[in-house]
Amino acid sequence: MGWIALSVLVLVSEAQAQEVCLSAEEDPYLLFGTKTAYNFAHTAGISTTRIQDVIGCSPIAFWSLNRHGSHNPELNEINELQRLQDLRDNIIANYKNGNFRNTNQRMCTSDVNLLERWQWSARHTAASAGELTSEGYVTAQNLAQAWRQRYPGLLTDNRHDYLFKYLNDRRSTSSFRAYTEGLFRAQAQDQDIPNASDEKLLTPYKFCPAWTKDVEQNNETTSYQLIFESKQEYRDMINNISLRLGFNYEIDKESIKRMYQMCRYNKAWDIAQISPWCAAFTKSDLQRLEYAEDLETYYKYGYGSPINQKLGCGLVKDMFDFFQHQIESGDIPQQPRAKIYFTDAPTLLLTLTSLGAHRQVTPLTGDNYRTQVQQRKWVTSTVAPYNANLAAVLYKCDPNSNYQIQEKYQVLFLENEQQMVLDNCRVGLCDWSLVKQKYGNTSSCDMQFCNAANSLNSLFGISLALLSLVVRYISV
Ligand SMILES: *[C@@H]1O[C@H](CO)[C@@H](O)[C@H](O)[C@H]1NC(C)=O
Ligand SMILES: *[C@@H]1O[C@H](CO)[C@@H](O)[C@H](O)[C@H]1NC(C)=O
Ligand SMILES: *[C@@H]1O[C@H](CO)[C@@H](O)[C@H](O)[C@H]1NC(C)=O
Ligand SMILES: *[C@@H]1O[C@H](CO)[C@@H](O)[C@H](O)[C@H]1NC(C)=O
Repeated sequence: MGWIALSVLVLVSEAQAQEVCLSAEEDPYLLFGTKTAYNFAHTAGISTTRIQDVIGCSPIAFWSLNRHGSHNPELNEINELQRLQDLRDNIIANYKNGNFRNTNQRMCTSDVNLLERWQWSARHTAASAGELTSEGYVTAQNLAQAWRQRYPGLLTDNRHDYLFKYLNDRRSTSSFRAYTEGLFRAQAQDQDIPNASDEKLLTPYKFCPAWTKDVEQNNETTSYQLIFESKQEYRDMINNISLRLGFNYEIDKESIKRMYQMCRYNKAWDIAQISPWCAAFTKSDLQRLEYAEDLETYYKYGYGSPINQKLGCGLVKDMFDFFQHQIESGDIPQQPRAKIYFTDAPTLLLTLTSLGAHRQVTPLTGDNYRTQVQQRKWVTSTVAPYNANLAAVLYKCDPNSNYQIQEKYQVLFLENEQQMVLDNCRVGLCDWSLVKQKYGNTSSCDMQFCNAANSLNSLFGISLALLSLVVRYISV
């Protein structure tokens, strides 16, 4: 009798443990900041309308900035991520030992089994570090085909209609190759595509000592993220994850970040595959991790640091000058008619900041997660996922045929193939006079400030040195 009561008790407490299969969620949370797959970034709002059709107008020039696709782990991440094998062993041991006290948080049995079978892939060697994945390659090909279908008269087979620029790294070079294969329908041996590398244009932040010093190396830049990570809502998350994995103590922040990194890499390499590492996180955990990275990008490449708006203007100016040239040439189309660039997330974010897109009225901070979780405009996951793209298309219009259009030239701004929200434009469509007013002051886009701070610094350095010399002289 007593024995039966006991086993009933055991059964009841087992049943109370939440056996949730996070990996088998019907509606999983797939927004993973800068490591979000393109397909996940805009499933909700995917546009079925023919966004390219502007009544009374025809497209005459195409400008586009593309982020590379998903890639293998970076060289400096490989050792880190391999350490997940030890963590996996500890978690499995926790589950085998029934290591759960004061908690009903569990991974479900099939998630645990998946994790037990997880292996670090031998493919990820130093030799292939950082290289574009086949997922990233195919997405770039598909994007090129989608653009070509939208603008068949503009994006033709004539190579001289184009100018491509890409960063001199493997993932951007491969993205360029994939894109041109998609555009010209798999002619991999093509050797006459006008192309150039232009590191200064495509990674302005690498050529700006003032930014390096005032933003990248400035502790304040990361302090907002650190503040958020010290908050109760973040600590609760760590505590919950630790319990869910069977630890009786809080696992360190680095382990959490490593699991998150593996989870989001897995989902970006193969969007159909389940990642056992994602099973460690609930939706609200993932939203917190996402917000922490948004804080980082907001201050590093966004509105959080005023200098970023100036630093991003190079590509905005490039777009403006390109269109201006087309307009000035009147009815004679000028080659190239399409400029297509391949770069990284920082440069894309800096450019969007310079355009004035996704501007926050209230700055993101470590303290306002609750108010910003649902309503912020700066969402790295949807703005700069893998294969993210910004396009500006110049249209020539007959103002008499569309009552909404008063000007002969219009620019349609699209991000990730959807109309972009910009002040004073009509769902992505802006009058040329407005574009000119907003982005056409070319004299306000010089990069002198990048070195000015530096020279000021060295001047300061020299005077310090002189001063110490004087002091030494005096004290001798
Ligand atoms: C890129 O341009 C160079 C000349 O500047 C040319 O030799 C090369 O074949 C081009 N690459 C492609 C893929 O067309
Ligand atoms: C910035 O952080 C570094 C390393 O944590 C520290 O040594 C330095 O004192 C900090 N500087 C400021 C201005 O807080
Ligand atoms: C942690 O888990 C508890 C109990 O399941 C839950 O009420 C709470 O919302 C969780 N906190 C976070 C930050 O996920
Ligand atoms: C253009 O930018 C320069 C430098 O920022 C500024 O002095 C000038 O007033 C601007 N001109 C216009 C027309 O906005």
